[in-house]
Amino acid sequence: MSEEISSSPSPAPHKRRVRYSGRNPRRFEEKYKEHTRDDATLAKVLASGKTPAGTHRPIMVAEILAALAPQPGDLAVDCTLGYGGHTQEILKAIAPGGKLLGLDQDPIELPKTEARLRTLGFDETVFTAHRSNFAGLPQVLASVTAVGGRRVGDDGSQSQNAVIGADLILADLGISSMQIDDPGRGFSVKHAGPLDMRMNPQRGQSASAFLEKIKPAALAELLVENSDEPAAAILSSALAEKKFATTTELANAIKNALPRLQKDEITLTIRRVFQALRIAVNDEFSALDTLLRTLPACLKSGGRVAILTFHSGEDRRVKKAFASGHRDGLYSEITEEVIRPSAEERNANPRSAPAKLRWAKRA
Ligand SMILES: C[S@@+](CC[C@H](N)C(=O)[O-])C[C@H]1O[C@@H](n2cnc3c(N)ncnc32)[C@H](O)[C@@H]1O
Repeated sequence: MSEEISSSPSPAPHKRRVRYSGRNPRRFEEKYKEHTRDDATLAKVLASGKTPAGTHRPIMVAEILAALAPQPGDLAVDCTLGYGGHTQEILKAIAPGGKLLGLDQDPIELPKTEARLRTLGFDETVFTAHRSNFAGLPQVLASVTAVGGRRVGDDGSQSQNAVIGADLILADLGISSMQIDDPGRGFSVKHAGPLDMRMNPQRGQSASAFLEKIKPAALAELLVENSDEPAAAILSSALAEKKFATTTELANAIKNALPRLQKDEITLTIRRVFQALRIAVNDEFSALDTLLRTLPACLKSGGRVAILTFHSGEDRRVKKAFASGHRDGLYSEITEEVIRPSAEERNANPRSAPAKLRWAKRA
């Protein structure tokens, strides 16, 4: 793995496995058969429409491969490596002779995915892992492909010393199931965990610190902008400038602020507030805007980009950037209609339900 990676950690001390009460494990740490990849257990979990603990199911794989049209020998970039599900399929399609750069800003999951892909036989000649925000894609591409050509500027412009562009680029936005399902990461509404929500816990501030500092008016604006929250005004005065140490404390405060809401509505409200905070804490829109601006300069002529989004704030940005790139002649073709997961996929993997796919082809 390249970029800001430290030397290998010393071996972890042996830990006794966590016992669970009752017939089935409920908590993330108790699901040891899923963590140790017991085949029968994994098959049962998948058949029930759930995602085994510590894994992620790639979404709209066939649609993404059709949009990106990978060919043997291609240079590919997966901006959001996650568990490597899409990467694995792209790597097969670009062999022989192809190479894929996998980026992810998560220092906890990235080494695990790199190790998993190595055990599947993808060595350094075909796959490299890069701990990087995808806003830094031009720099990662330059570090791997620069040939004393031209450089890509932050605004997407090309000057002397540019990198060799990629044949295909994928971004599957948001967080992975490994991140959501691990209570220790603080993304989870279901289980108590520290209110953190950072994809890279070594940078920036936790959601708890963020809420403690933000003014009510700014929080109200953010709840509307990031998740179209209808109760933004009430929630912002109940939550801003307060200290919530855990995900459960925050969820309870949301419930208490809206005592008249039905259970289903409260669940949706809690999800929207968590989403809005996650977007803010990870500065997700600004990273996406930077990626969209620099994409044309990172693609070869005829190269393709596909972006999978999970809520309207993301989709709006992608749609607008592709349309304006098309108008300006940077893209020769773009998705006419947004592509959605099939009914089978939505049933088999409910986490795919909100997904929207758009693609563009570099002129
Ligand atoms: C939905 S998951 C990707 C799953 C992946 N496609 C797979 O099949 O396993 C999104 C991943 O992107 C990473 N991520 C999100 N925003 C990022 C950013 N701005 N820069 C780099 N990585 C990012 C997250 O840490 C997470 O691992």
